[in-house]
Amino acid sequence: MYAAVTLFVFMCLTATTHAEHHQPCHSPNMTGLLTVMTGKGELKAMGAYTYDSMGKKLRFRSNESYPMNTSLGLDLLMFFEEGIFYEIDSKNQSCEKKALQCTMHPLDIPDDATFLTALHSGSASIEGEGLKVNVWTGPMSEAKGHYSMSVTMGCLPVSTFYFTESTSFLFSNMEVELEIKDPDLLTVPSFCLGQPLEETPEGTVNSFLNEFM
Ligand SMILES: *[C@@H]1O[C@H](CO)[C@@H](O)[C@H](O)[C@H]1NC(C)=O
Ligand SMILES: *[C@@H]1O[C@H](CO)[C@@H](O)[C@H](O)[C@H]1NC(C)=O
Ligand SMILES: *[C@@H]1O[C@H](CO)[C@@H](O)[C@H](O)[C@H]1NC(C)=O
Ligand SMILES: *[C@@H]1O[C@H](CO)[C@@H](O)[C@H](O)[C@H]1NC(C)=O
Repeated sequence: MYAAVTLFVFMCLTATTHAEHHQPCHSPNMTGLLTVMTGKGELKAMGAYTYDSMGKKLRFRSNESYPMNTSLGLDLLMFFEEGIFYEIDSKNQSCEKKALQCTMHPLDIPDDATFLTALHSGSASIEGEGLKVNVWTGPMSEAKGHYSMSVTMGCLPVSTFYFTESTSFLFSNMEVELEIKDPDLLTVPSFCLGQPLEETPEGTVNSFLNEFM
């Protein structure tokens, strides 16, 4: 289905840097909308997600026609703790089960992220006209990329940039609500149960980000 074999190879690095005074926070349970745009301005995907912060589970379903046409239709169920994910096709009730080689994703700050700065978007002095964010950065691959992630003081991700040698992506998080509205979205659909784990081709690194390339 959407399993385009990607030429991009991303490796998760275990960085050793730590912020002196800031520890990365972890986002709460969330339901919201995520848009994915490339550095060239192409709106890749837009859709609703459900995120379980404790169970480290994420469901993302893009809608190719709402409210703007996007280029990618995806239905992903990610289990970051287990290191597996499902690419789901509800139309013909099929799915693919794959191993995650990289568990980085735009809704949670990696534990080894480096605190960059705190910023005030808009106005710092006019009530309701500004947004204070903490910006975190870190490496993405073997010196071939990095990310920059902004989160609110309550640790809600606002936007995450991924920069690589060849491309860049912006994930924007909107309409966040602090609850899991439909827990069923985080359970494996019955037609996916018993699905064998697909072999990862040599040189491929599966990650949430790679699904948009
Ligand atoms: C389901 O549909 C997708 C494309 O829409 C196709 O690639 C896939 O092979 C189909 N799977 C089954 C089991 O029919
Ligand atoms: C987040 O959602 C999960 C799954 O529904 C639940 O087990 C957990 O208690 C929730 N966490 C919080 C802080 O509400
Ligand atoms: C996509 O959005 C359209 C327009 O709001 C809606 O009618 C449709 O049900 C949505 N499809 C999915 C799969 O969410
Ligand atoms: C989306 O694409 C369809 C078919 O190509 C077109 O009819 C429609 O006007 C487009 N909608 C927007 C908002 O661009």
